[in-house]
Amino acid sequence: MRALLLLGLVAVALAEITHFEGEKVFRLKPVLDEHVTLIKDLAKSIEVDFWRPESPELVTIDIDVDIRVPAMYLDMVYTTLQQNDMEYRVLIEDVQSSVDAQVDNKPSPRAHSYTNYNTWDTVQSWITSISSSNPNLISKQVIGSTYEGRPMTVLKLGKKSSSTKPAIFMDCGIHAREWISPAFCQWFVKEALSTYGSDSQMTSLLDQMDVFVLPVFNIDGYDFTHKSNRMWRKTRSRKSGSSCIGADPNRNWNAGWCTAGASSNPCSDTFCGYSPESEIEVKNVADFIRRNKSVLKAYLTIHSYSQLLLFPYSYTFELAAHHSELLKVAEGASAALRSLYGTSYTSGPGAATIYPAAGGSDDWAYDLGVKYSYTFELRDTGRYGFLLPESQIKPTCEETMLAVKYIAAYVQKNL
Ligand code: ARG
Ligand code: ZN
Repeated sequence: MRALLLLGLVAVALAEITHFEGEKVFRLKPVLDEHVTLIKDLAKSIEVDFWRPESPELVTIDIDVDIRVPAMYLDMVYTTLQQNDMEYRVLIEDVQSSVDAQVDNKPSPRAHSYTNYNTWDTVQSWITSISSSNPNLISKQVIGSTYEGRPMTVLKLGKKSSSTKPAIFMDCGIHAREWISPAFCQWFVKEALSTYGSDSQMTSLLDQMDVFVLPVFNIDGYDFTHKSNRMWRKTRSRKSGSSCIGADPNRNWNAGWCTAGASSNPCSDTFCGYSPESEIEVKNVADFIRRNKSVLKAYLTIHSYSQLLLFPYSYTFELAAHHSELLKVAEGASAALRSLYGTSYTSGPGAATIYPAAGGSDDWAYDLGVKYSYTFELRDTGRYGFLLPESQIKPTCEETMLAVKYIAAYVQKNL
């Protein structure tokens, strides 16, 4: 036992952690075709991490492009930008300092906290304890395992009923580095439990409907961002023949799979996978949604960053059959969100609002028949990006609650 413990400690000490000292995040403003070409060429010749959009293929004229650049390439990037007259600014001066600074709330070592970024182990024990202490409102169900064998648990929130209730499905943490997202799912569960019985809307929602919550979708990736590389996005699956790990779990769904805004290169951050649902996490959730298709009225998926409320389609510029209704609800939800702290959101169909990107969960759920299908991109708009400080967890979750509750109320009214 002791020897094993010691071995474990040694293994932890040896596990490599990626550091980001001296790295910067730039915001580039390409306004000429040459600028776009230049960014793509840059991405080919040096190691650049695309924060927004998520890959060089998605870069177009007149959009803001946020990239993380390793220290060793800084001189070269500055020179290139200046020589080509491209407007830019530095969003993050030193990425490692921002990584360290995001944990700015009082640390709660190992304990779960709604205002800290919890590790997967902590989230996992929270799932166990919150469901066992609220048996009347929560039940849990394991929908499968991740690639590395971690259990994917869906929490079902709602008043027990003898008949089947209509439901909403919400997932967080499809992308590993978007830490504010799992924080929101945990917050939502807490709020649902603590306001049921006092808040009339929450009470009526949970009386009439069930809300399925998957707190962390891409658990392997999330764990990896805590232990090894804060900037990891994809799953952690491996396949012989490529040394690159993982696929983008939001490019792996069977909705125009890999036709646009995704990469077939396993080393890309937007790799669509070897086939639709090749990622076991995607398969598990897709199976769950297919099994519950007849009761599911809404699908919500939480990402960051950019402050957007998107709906189908992203795989095509064609408008969804319910476009105007989806837009109206998104605008109502954004207004509700803004009413608290003035945070402004943009809403619209994915392809036209940001860029075409096929294989996403929102489009897939919508085409399956889940009409109210929305992707949230939470705070911020790039000041911290994925490294949103913990001090912003509370306000972000509070305002997002208003938007989610707005959508839920609308869905409930239109059952
Ligand atoms: N930033 C998100 C992503 O790239 C946006 C998702 C929008 N929906 C979509 N189906 N592409 O995954
Ligand atoms: Zn995302």
